[in-house]
Amino acid sequence: MDLPKAVKLVEVGPRDGLQNETRQVDTATKVEFINRLSQTGLSVIEATSFVSAKWIPQLADHTEVLQQILQVPGIAYPVLVPNQQGMLSALQAGAKTVSVFTAASETFCKKNINCTTEESLKRFVDVFALAKENEIPVRGYISCALGCPYEGDIDPHRVAYLAGVLYQSGCYEISLGDTIGVGTPGKAQELIQIVSQVVPLKALAIHFHDTYGQALANILACLELGVQTIDSSVAGLGGCPYAKGASGNVATEDVLYMLQGLGIETGVDLSKLLEVGTYICQQLQRQPQSKVAKARLKA
Ligand code: HMG
Ligand code: MG
Repeated sequence: MDLPKAVKLVEVGPRDGLQNETRQVDTATKVEFINRLSQTGLSVIEATSFVSAKWIPQLADHTEVLQQILQVPGIAYPVLVPNQQGMLSALQAGAKTVSVFTAASETFCKKNINCTTEESLKRFVDVFALAKENEIPVRGYISCALGCPYEGDIDPHRVAYLAGVLYQSGCYEISLGDTIGVGTPGKAQELIQIVSQVVPLKALAIHFHDTYGQALANILACLELGVQTIDSSVAGLGGCPYAKGASGNVATEDVLYMLQGLGIETGVDLSKLLEVGTYICQQLQRQPQSKVAKARLKA
């Protein structure tokens, strides 16, 4: 297998992981969670979202979280922004990297950010302008890249079109989200092949939720094609409030264990990561979803 020598892990636990929690997690716990993640060797930790508190109450303390964490030099702490209002708040809070997000499914887009896909792209124009003015790198997300909870199958060419627009608008990286975890390795490879015709492979990231247990297989299939950036969530936390039944993101521990087995460098320390997984699961009063964490617990 012709695999990359190194891979960048994007930890999305504090954002994608926590946004779905119905019980409010206090700000101090979120800050401690991110600070502990900062000690594991991760270079990107998605911190929070500057979205409406009516839509995502769990992340209403976005400003406090971003301002209270110890921002370690060399680590990026991106935050989600859906529109100009979110971008302005994120800038005010001191965000240095932001992510815009849209969807390849019209129905999901409407339920998630209350606009059509084309309207979302129009909203991002203001975000890109502010980002340019403030020299802020912008990441782009496309949800439902391999299937939608409302519309079913998604045309990969639709994903490629959106990825192309986001890339041309200035996104340094486009993350393809399998929001409800329905993708399988063949479909994941087909998606990467089609999208990489318009966006360079090095600018593509993959974001798998593990609902059907396919996430690691999908990741391996994408690595084979040269993808080098993987989103994951410690302890497999996560889900999307607008994708009922979707399980958490693929667990960072499990991705890391597989990458280590393949001899792929990440710079992340598995033992330290497992400790952070234990910490946040204790706070949330639940068991980690990571298979590696469960295996180590038994051992
Ligand atoms: P809207 O209601 O259509 O917005 O929400 P609006 O422009 O009509 O404004 C209505 C109210 O929202 C106003 O307040 C605005 O001030 C306020 P009011 O006058 O009623 O008091 N508002 C805001 N407040 C805070 N921050 C903002 C903001 N913008 C307007 N940025 C909006 C539109 C996008 C804001 C809303 O739909 C929203 O917040 N959605 C959040 C959705 C979300 O966070 N989903 C989860 C993240 S995406 C995901 O998980 C997928 C991903 O992981 C990849 C994958 O797995 O596929 C990334
Ligand atoms: Mg997600």
